[in-house]
Amino acid sequence: MSKVLLVSASPHKKGNTAQLIEECARVIGENGVATEIISLAGMNIVSCLGCGKCAKIGKCKKDDGLNDIIAGIKKARGFIVGTPVYFGTARGDLLSALQRIGMVSKSTDEFLSRKVGGPVAVARRGGHTATIQELLMFYLINDMIVPGSYYWNMVFGRKAGEVWEDEEGIKVIRRFAENVAWLVNTVAARAAG
Ligand SMILES: Cc1cc2nc3c(=O)[nH]c(=O)nc-3n(C[C@H](O)[C@H](O)[C@H](O)COP(=O)(O)O)c2cc1C
Repeated sequence: MSKVLLVSASPHKKGNTAQLIEECARVIGENGVATEIISLAGMNIVSCLGCGKCAKIGKCKKDDGLNDIIAGIKKARGFIVGTPVYFGTARGDLLSALQRIGMVSKSTDEFLSRKVGGPVAVARRGGHTATIQELLMFYLINDMIVPGSYYWNMVFGRKAGEVWEDEEGIKVIRRFAENVAWLVNTVAARAAG
């Protein structure tokens, strides 16, 4: 069965980002695709050192959990990231993780190529679109396939659980998840046949 790996990049294990990522995973599962969720909460992902070691050893030399995420991506056909907006941008540790993942992919066998996915952003009031645009830079430079939805993948909420009050946002996220599953199933069928 094909799999989608989802990363929740909030320090709050049960916060809004985690709840949205779980909802994406639920919808993807409902559409016949397996899921795995990794939370960055409690991890301490540092920024890329630009050392170039990954080209020689096939993984990141920094052993802070990043290589486990890479192993999960390699086994998956899809890769979704969710982040709270912090001062108008994605959280720093997510950007650090994505820059290192992209570097390892490009320095090895381009394992990100044609993975299906995209970013989801949650914020109290503003900065969603800049955050989504910022995260799309990772997807688009790494030869990945990003489906759309009825709107951009943004949801409003401050305290944990408030996202459920944003009905349109939830509808958008569910459609995005459906589209990821649809594409993953389509890519898998093509690869099999
Ligand atoms: C350091 C920090 C910066 C934030 N910056 C913004 C911001 O720029 N725009 C906004 O609307 N909300 C901002 N927020 C609010 C969070 O994005 C919002 O509460 C979000 O739902 C938290 O998600 P979580 O529960 O997954 O951690 C910020 C929160 C923190 C802690």
